[in-house]
Amino acid sequence: MRKPIIAGNWKLNKNIKETVELLEALKKELADIKDVDIAVCPVFTSLVDAAKAIEGSNIKLGAQNVYWEDSGAYTGEIAPAMLKEIGCTYVIIGHSERRTYFGESNETVNKKIKAALVHGLLPIMCIGERLEEREQGKTFAVLEDHLQGGLEGISADDMLKIIIAYEPVWAIGTGKTATPQQAQEAHKYIRDFLKKKYNEDIAAAVRIQYGGSVKPANISELMAQEDLDGALVGGASLKVDSFSQIVKGARK
Ligand code: 13P
Repeated sequence: MRKPIIAGNWKLNKNIKETVELLEALKKELADIKDVDIAVCPVFTSLVDAAKAIEGSNIKLGAQNVYWEDSGAYTGEIAPAMLKEIGCTYVIIGHSERRTYFGESNETVNKKIKAALVHGLLPIMCIGERLEEREQGKTFAVLEDHLQGGLEGISADDMLKIIIAYEPVWAIGTGKTATPQQAQEAHKYIRDFLKKKYNEDIAAAVRIQYGGSVKPANISELMAQEDLDGALVGGASLKVDSFSQIVKGARK
């Protein structure tokens, strides 16, 4: 049985004060939840305060990006050990916004995943097709490309530490969620890929999140799909009510 995981990707939103306020409210609202893993990914500058705010709670911390080197002349970057040091459990890698605006590729995603794993961070690897790729019938080809490149050289043991987030780019921030059937079809493709690359047990164990306009109103029908194990939530993770409802709606 895969335990559902709901993670909030706060993107470039909320200062330290707002971060701590939201976390204090979420802690109260979600204190009883034991059957869903919960994570929040605030901006880098809020992570230290966020870690203190959620200490001892059932909410875990993630970062939105990481670099693959440990130290050196890499202006503006942050190393995996530094995220671990301040209490991060997860790190989002290869979000489509990073691929689109910051030139990330399968190759950089792969390096980041490997570096994160070395330092005990659990990667949330994002993959997904753009609208024109879907319209051209290339969805599975894109998923295969992202999976093959991103997971190049990753051992079976390490695969068990990775969460895959299927985020169709056309559904991100658009209010246009993938239908449960579209999501399930992609998630099944991803699980079948893992079966071929690794084996049945690994494929059955890896959690696959859906991301793209997840809201309280659509979480239950998404979670009802066999291969959907949680969500990576953008906009709706910024408010206590909507995020709490999504977490509660993710109970299978
Ligand atoms: P929205 O939930 O705002 O569509 O964003 C999804 C996302 O990009 C999560 O990583």
